[in-house]
Amino acid sequence: METERLRLRRFTGDDVEQLAGLDSDPEVMRFLTGQATPPEEIASVVLPAILKVYDEHPGLGTFAAEQKSDGAFIGWFGLQPTAAPATVDVGYRLNRTAWGKGYATEGTKALIDKAFGELGMERVVADTMAVNHRSRAVMRRSGLRFVRIFHEHFDDPLPGTEFGEVEYAIDRRTWEAGRRA
Ligand SMILES: CC(C)(COP(=O)(O)OP(=O)(O)OC[C@H]1O[C@@H](n2cnc3c(N)ncnc32)[C@H](O)[C@@H]1OP(=O)(O)O)[C@@H](O)C(=O)NCCC(=O)NCCS
Repeated sequence: METERLRLRRFTGDDVEQLAGLDSDPEVMRFLTGQATPPEEIASVVLPAILKVYDEHPGLGTFAAEQKSDGAFIGWFGLQPTAAPATVDVGYRLNRTAWGKGYATEGTKALIDKAFGELGMERVVADTMAVNHRSRAVMRRSGLRFVRIFHEHFDDPLPGTEFGEVEYAIDRRTWEAGRRA
């Protein structure tokens, strides 16, 4: 799948290094786990879980993003199944060097189009920590709208957990209206 500046492809078993590099930056992981993920965990848990989704949910999953200009790996975009019918969750994680270029919004819009177009979904949702303002801005720029704030219990909460988690969403009718505009 391609956007103006990005190519999205499935991960393979050879991508441990790419994923480990991405998750080794504590700033990238700040609102996720708050710390780098060890490469062994990428190889034994994270990557196998990504590959499993391709088999179990055709069309969905986590996709490696590369710059079309030079093929450089910049991070990933994902469409994950949810418990709600015809509803998928969109997410993204980019290397810090790829922030501030509009890549996250470009990839997210493309996956939202795929969800409603090719996959025939009725709703796309996204959530993040309320204090993750960069991520919330991507959601807004991609056409998702604020739905609710909610609180979850964590045994080892990250700083900012007290402000809760936010959910954003877009439904098919709003997406179609946006395309006509
Ligand atoms: C969340 C995350 C993907 C946001 O990335 P981002 O680069 O800020 O988001 P965008 O791609 O929308 O880029 C927007 C910025 O690029 C700038 N930009 C530069 N060139 C641009 C272009 N051609 N088109 C659009 N925007 C452009 C915009 O002005 C904006 O700048 P600003 O942040 O100073 O306002 C990134 O911070 C990240 O990977 N964080 C770690 C993982 C994470 O927290 N994920 C979410 C968990 S739910």
